[in-house]
Amino acid sequence: MNRKISRREAALGAGAAGLALGLGLPALGQAETRVHYVPSSGEALAPVGLGTSRVFNSVSGAAQRSALVEVLEALFGGGALVDTSPMYGDAETHLGELLPQAAGHESMFCATKVWTEGRAAGARQMQESMDKIGVERIDLMQVHNLLDWETHLETMLEMQAAGSIRYLGITTSRAGQFAEFERVMRAADWDFVQLNYSLGEREAEERLLPLAAERGMAVMVNRPFVRGGLFRAARGKELPRVAAELGCDSPAQLFLKWILGHPAATCVIPATTKVKHMADNLGAAAGPLPNARQRKEIAAWI
Ligand SMILES: NC(=O)c1ccc[n+]([C@@H]2O[C@H](COP(=O)([O-])OP(=O)(O)OC[C@H]3O[C@@H](n4cnc5c(N)ncnc54)[C@H](OP(=O)(O)O)[C@@H]3O)[C@@H](O)[C@H]2O)c1
Repeated sequence: MNRKISRREAALGAGAAGLALGLGLPALGQAETRVHYVPSSGEALAPVGLGTSRVFNSVSGAAQRSALVEVLEALFGGGALVDTSPMYGDAETHLGELLPQAAGHESMFCATKVWTEGRAAGARQMQESMDKIGVERIDLMQVHNLLDWETHLETMLEMQAAGSIRYLGITTSRAGQFAEFERVMRAADWDFVQLNYSLGEREAEERLLPLAAERGMAVMVNRPFVRGGLFRAARGKELPRVAAELGCDSPAQLFLKWILGHPAATCVIPATTKVKHMADNLGAAAGPLPNARQRKEIAAWI
């Protein structure tokens, strides 16, 4: 995951997207796997990851454990990014327990969050996240929903200098918080911003996505399916003609490609408990991304 490109190339966003072949990145069958780049470093990142909210929160029984190990293995067959948080019950602990059983887990790009108030509590929580997940370094530490972000930023910078955090970020998932989010985006040089953006929630394209491109910040997109709501909207509909042009054979791939087709979008983190859905979602990293005309056709279909 360490092939670097110049900052100028990276600043081109999805326009600078490359294909995994020749980059030492995992490939999906015979299809070419797309990679995007983190603007602040030029590091290549497979664009489809896994969200853990309500997936890893409470895990009980051998069947559920082995299903989640399969999901992780599928992810590591074509991606690397896992997004979690201390907010998601025992998700970090369960992730840490199951990771060693998942082939390919060494390639994980681990994103978690700090979600508390106060310097001491924040520092303690970030260390606990590393202990629970079982890693010595977090790839991306994000301030969850901006909670006490100024306090945590100081600690995060110290941890980054000490080598225990690689990238810094902030998250939101509500348009009602976007004005404050914009202010915080301008207040510090975040490597990543995580926000909700999908065919059901398009507000981020007004100001936040252009600002991320302008400021050279990677965009991680959460709630790509509006927590599953988009599938209910697509139920009973045949895939539109544009699906074949894009090599999509499911609604999920269309929804994810529509997001990744935005020039500012770096990666998406759909949550799933099912290996077949993980494989389906990874299909959005293969083949072409939609251009403006094709994005319009997808939006008109749903
Ligand atoms: N403020 C924040 O920082 C914040 C807020 C919200 C979310 N997030 C992050 O973003 C992640 C994703 O958001 P989300 O979990 O709210 O919702 P989401 O990813 O939009 O939707 C998840 C739902 O989609 C279904 N699904 C996934 N892949 C599918 C497929 N290929 N076909 C059909 N159904 C599919 C899942 O069901 P199955 O289990 O049946 O597949 C689940 O019900 C979270 O897990 C979390 O990591 C962060």
